[in-house]
Amino acid sequence: MNPSESFRCRICRGPVWQFLDLGRQPISDAFRTAGDTDPEFFFDLAVGRCAACTMIQLTNAVPRERMFHAGYPYLSSGSAVMREHFARTAASFLETELRDDGSFVIEIGCNDGVMLGMIAEAGRRHLGVEPSAGVARIAEDAEVRVRVAFFEESTARDIVATEGRADLAYSANTICHIPYLDSVFRGLDAVLKPSGIFVFEDPYFGDIVAKTSYDQIYDEHFYYFTVRSVREMVRRFGFELVDVAPLAVHGGELRYTVARAGQRTVTPAVAEWLAAEERAGLAEAITCSRFAANVGANRRALRGLLERLHEAGHSVAGYGATAKSATVTNFVGITPELVSYVCDSTPAKQGRLTPGAHLPVLSPERFREPYPDYALLFAWNHAEEIMAKEHEFRDHGGRWITYVPDVAIR
Ligand code: SAH
Ligand code: TYD
Ligand code: ZN
Repeated sequence: MNPSESFRCRICRGPVWQFLDLGRQPISDAFRTAGDTDPEFFFDLAVGRCAACTMIQLTNAVPRERMFHAGYPYLSSGSAVMREHFARTAASFLETELRDDGSFVIEIGCNDGVMLGMIAEAGRRHLGVEPSAGVARIAEDAEVRVRVAFFEESTARDIVATEGRADLAYSANTICHIPYLDSVFRGLDAVLKPSGIFVFEDPYFGDIVAKTSYDQIYDEHFYYFTVRSVREMVRRFGFELVDVAPLAVHGGELRYTVARAGQRTVTPAVAEWLAAEERAGLAEAITCSRFAANVGANRRALRGLLERLHEAGHSVAGYGATAKSATVTNFVGITPELVSYVCDSTPAKQGRLTPGAHLPVLSPERFREPYPDYALLFAWNHAEEIMAKEHEFRDHGGRWITYVPDVAIR
């Protein structure tokens, strides 16, 4: 496809070349109530690469209010492994940037307060910025201070006026959700003290390519970062990438530490990651086309397996009504005939239908009533936690189906 005016990079305005089309897709976290009569919103989900700065990004942005609102169902505290991850994160901040009693941290996209709750408990000044009022309320109930707003330049200026500047800004699984990062970085420039740092973590494009985890691509994930594209992006806004560290959560992420140019020593990890990306040709167009071919093969394999199981009369359920699963169910064409229902622990998803594919969502208690023959693990990033919790499923002869990194029965 030729780059056109509507396919301009959101970071540098360079031409964006589409390399993967995932078709018409719904809002990934918009669970339907049976009997809903309003038409479901669909958009074209496709991803491209900027020929100038190499940033991987969606070619269409869904308006933010359609995704993040009072009814947004995702809860960060829904996984024990994630709760531990954020507890470790909070503890490490309390030993470093937030050592001093008077220090101040803001979190962009604090969700239900899983991280800030521990900062609040330690008595540190903090403020979460979270536009989804329902999850923000849960954080407030846990004594976390939250501003119900989208973080952007104006929000940051308000915070400076009322709260002063911060020592640390932190954001997990949210920066990749925000197309307008120019405004976000102007805001960070306004809100951080001169020596303040910004730490953020998001799914790594290197892991997405290595595992063919194309289900990381959905409406909320606008950007798919590499060290190279992040370094170039922050430089444009007067910042410097000073550290990079891998995280095992959510199928493979990187944590980036960013400071004002010249304020901190750059760790050797930055050059090491850049060199590894260059060796792998990670941000190259050829890697993107190969990835797209692998996605097509993965789709055919999953569709074929589910059809064979259906024809043989086996029952198949899904496990984890993830946002990621919207991409898979709608791209592969998974109907309730092929996967009868999905079990999920999130109260706001239960009793509803998954977006687009309309698979009924049931509570995990229903998983054993009776166990299906096969369970398609949509929450593959929580495989260890879920398989341990549901170990009796295998004891009863049940088998798991995974599709990351390959379609397999386990
Ligand atoms: N940090 C949590 C939540 C990630 S989900 C975790 O890692 O588990 C993404 C969150 O970002 C949602 O709660 C969503 O409401 C919020 N969000 C989306 N756009 C935002 C913006 N512009 N500013 C602040 N938060 C935003
Ligand atoms: P997750 O993979 O964290 O994110 P996303 O929606 O962004 O793809 O979602 C995990 C989902 O799986 C969430 O809806 C909660 C559910 N879940 C369970 O039902 N049981 C569990 O033990 C865990 C860890 C998650
Ligand atoms: Zn660009």
